Amino acid sequence: MIGAALFEYFAARGWRVQATTRRRDRVDAQHPYFELAAPRLDLPAADFVVLAAAVARIGDCEAEPVATRRINVEGTLTVARHMAGQGSHVLLLSSDKVFDGAMPLRGRHDQPCPACAYGRQKAAAESGVLALGDQGAVLRLSKVLEPSLALLTGWARDLAARKPITPFHDLYLAPVTVDLVARITAHIADERAVGIYHCTGAEDRSYVDLARLLAADGCNDPALIRPASCGAANLPAAARPRYTTLEMTVEQARWGLTAPSFEGTAKAVIARCVPGID
Ligand SMILES: NC(=O)c1ccc[n+]([C@@H]2O[C@H](COP(=O)([O-])OP(=O)(O)OC[C@H]3O[C@@H](n4cnc5c(N)ncnc54)[C@H](OP(=O)(O)O)[C@@H]3O)[C@@H](O)[C@H]2O)c1
Repeated sequence: MIGAALFEYFAARGWRVQATTRRRDRVDAQHPYFELAAPRLDLPAADFVVLAAAVARIGDCEAEPVATRRINVEGTLTVARHMAGQGSHVLLLSSDKVFDGAMPLRGRHDQPCPACAYGRQKAAAESGVLALGDQGAVLRLSKVLEPSLALLTGWARDLAARKPITPFHDLYLAPVTVDLVARITAHIADERAVGIYHCTGAEDRSYVDLARLLAADGCNDPALIRPASCGAANLPAAARPRYTTLEMTVEQARWGLTAPSFEGTAKAVIARCVPGID
């Protein structure tokens, strides 16, 4: 999702962009084949590399910690070191899950304290990329919302059909748009910035709050929203942190970018969300 959006963003800036794929049927001149589980180091040279490919589902990393570590840490660092060796500036997309979610607004120099395999893998990949020194940067993200997310299009479809939906009242997000991710990524690329950067919303709110904004946008009956508990849905504790916000003081001071409000991000995304088809 994010890799594809960055591709469009940078191509629109007039940059020459290539995005890897591991799907043989999608390989072409702009999409070279690349498999992180067994990386072949024949990628084209690049001034700037974004490491966006990963197993990004917490549940998958929890279920298959060894196989996913091979992708999220070992393969990722193999390509990071190789591309840095060729002169590239390397950016790793990381996550708020390098922290345990016990407190809001974590600082970029706070000691990582992941509570899940995915977070431990991201923390390990971060230290490998930061060890690249003046060629390595890390961008930690909270939940990135896109209008095409299946959760949103599915809710929109059900509400429009007057079917109830069951968002979690005890699962939280501090969302950002992919556009904000792209803007910070562009600053990092332009300045060959090094170190750790943050991109999160200003506050954590529940998925029920997100569903209410979606229903209001579509003039749907709010009574169709039936709050549920993620505890009952077998979601692992590590996948439901209370807080996901990170401080953005550097991004504000350097680039004038502040953590966006929950309403601002949610409404911007919802406005472009088209109900899915059954
Ligand atoms: N989205 C968020 O809310 C969020 C939040 C925090 C951090 N992040 C991080 O941001 C990055 C991008 O996230 P995303 O939401 O765009 O994830 P995504 O939509 O799941 O995309 C991940 C991509 O990685 C590819 N991939 C998976 N395993 C691979 C392998 N072994 N070799 C090569 N490619 C492989 C996938 O290919 P297939 O399509 O073939 O599966 C997919 O294209 C990830 O590092 C994620 O951890 C995302």
